[in-house]
Amino acid sequence: MCGIVGYIGEQSAYPILLEGLKKLEYRGYDSAGVALLCPEELKVIKAKGEISVLEEKIGNGFPSGTVGIGHTRWATHGAPSDINAHPHCGCSEEFAVVHNGIIENYLGLRSWLEKQGHHFVSETDTEVLAHLVEHFFDGDLLRAVVQSVKMVEGSFAMVAISENEKGKLVCARKDSPLVIGLGERENYIASDVPAFLGHTRKIYILEDGEIAVVTANSVEILSVGGEVLQKEVSEVTWDAAEAEKGGYPHFMLKEIMEQPRALRETMRGRLLKGCSEFSLPELNLTPEEIRSIEQVYIVACGTAYHAGLVAKYAMEKILHIPVEVDLASEFRYRAPLLNKKTLFIVISQSGETADTLAALRLARQKGNKVLAITNVVGSSVAREAHRVLYTWAGPEIAVASTKAYLTQLFSLYLLTYYLAQEKKLLSPEELKEAGEALYRLPEQVETILKRVDEVREIAAYLTSWESAFFIGRNLDYAVAMEGALKLKEISYIHAEAYASGELKHGTLALIVDGIPVIALVTQRAVIEKSLSNIKEVKARCGHVICFAQEGTIEFQREVDRVFYLPTNLDVLMPILTVVPLQLLSYYAAVGRNCTVDKPRNLAKSVTVE
Ligand code: M6R
Repeated sequence: MCGIVGYIGEQSAYPILLEGLKKLEYRGYDSAGVALLCPEELKVIKAKGEISVLEEKIGNGFPSGTVGIGHTRWATHGAPSDINAHPHCGCSEEFAVVHNGIIENYLGLRSWLEKQGHHFVSETDTEVLAHLVEHFFDGDLLRAVVQSVKMVEGSFAMVAISENEKGKLVCARKDSPLVIGLGERENYIASDVPAFLGHTRKIYILEDGEIAVVTANSVEILSVGGEVLQKEVSEVTWDAAEAEKGGYPHFMLKEIMEQPRALRETMRGRLLKGCSEFSLPELNLTPEEIRSIEQVYIVACGTAYHAGLVAKYAMEKILHIPVEVDLASEFRYRAPLLNKKTLFIVISQSGETADTLAALRLARQKGNKVLAITNVVGSSVAREAHRVLYTWAGPEIAVASTKAYLTQLFSLYLLTYYLAQEKKLLSPEELKEAGEALYRLPEQVETILKRVDEVREIAAYLTSWESAFFIGRNLDYAVAMEGALKLKEISYIHAEAYASGELKHGTLALIVDGIPVIALVTQRAVIEKSLSNIKEVKARCGHVICFAQEGTIEFQREVDRVFYLPTNLDVLMPILTVVPLQLLSYYAAVGRNCTVDKPRNLAKSVTVE
């Protein structure tokens, strides 16, 4: 969480920092601040609230320095406030530090520093970093940062500046992302590339344990031990425009609408020979390795976890092997049973989620090969996994994940059918049928996206309710969980997903006159069973909104509203079912005047555990 930016060059730093912070606001938005090295002194300005509040506070009379750092915060230690906002200074205000991560031993460090005479003003863990740098400074900022990070336990991406050494920024990372953008007589630092994509595409990705000294004309990267490292410059391939709203009122709507394109990108080069052959060379698995897979373990958080749940149903059905799906935050503190025949998969849009990364590392320690499904090239997860399957969704900015989820599902289907092909579990005809069905999906999503008005009407019913239920059986249950998460995270309507068959074991008590119940009924094998559950809800006067495949059952008579989805293989229906649910959440949130792209208390990239 939190977004960090840094600039050093010949231009006025403040507008560049501000622009960068706005691009990183998805990482946190409860307070923001900047520190600038001005000719006379180091100036720090910060404000509680979104970046616009800081912008208003500073107005047009911004400090003129050409070196500076900035931060947008997602609070962990200390409530959002002006004082807890970053940058933080030492006692003397000669040093300023921005930080993303959690310093786990900050209480011990704080009392040690207090005994040395340091005076603290905030409740944050970060402030110890500023005091440590000040404490160790002997004329060399790099040495002070090295000494400081050696004392710190936990995770950090940090940048420090000092008015005693005006021509440099010093940054370091451990378990939190940091990239350096390379310009002409100017350089940038940020938590994520969009912050400086309007200026440069050439980057260094800082690895754990690395420290960089960045001046206007040079970037030197060192290990904590002081060894100078030679790193390769990477080139960012996506466009700055892709990270803009492009005329849509919200990133979320733009990203929902981009889904057909994202699916096509994810499919590219992976469905061959008239859709009869699945190709995933990036897996680099030998036929023996594939044959030896006897179990799949999928670990992820939030929406990515929900994608894993869909995969469990699909893989068990098609591959006939057990699939475990676990929340990363649970997995890492259990005693999971993995063995050499387990294919271990982590799913993460950002590739930076702290719990997912920790789960990946745990699986590696246990000797497992890890396959990552991620959207961000060069992310920590991508770098640390043995193999990577990229979801080519493009940058996802809205906190609510949409196109990343859809492309995660698509990648998981591709993986499932690829393994089935290599294990010879399906006939050529069955593989071709699946390939063609997958190929149809982007177009089918397009047709759903044209029916926005229908979904908007359904959403209008939801907006006045504080509670809603999502029910479904089998694959529909997995999608129901994602539908409920989407609705609650952006519209703040309390939403719960239940396996339809579970209703009578407690939840039915909550069904009252008119309460919205979104019933997903796309799985033909359990239609009759689902219908019985719908009748149980109707008998208690619940308001049932049904999502079903066209041409299955005539649901109109049974429910209050039905949205017919284009038909496809039952196993692939989650890709189609979730799209109107995303739109439903979006319009419910808009109808309730919620801050769609930046829901309260959340952040896009959860880099703390
Ligand atoms: O970047 P990741 O896929 O690892 O993120 C995992 C979750 O934080 C994320 O999916 C979260 O649940 C979304 N905001 C939900 O829309």
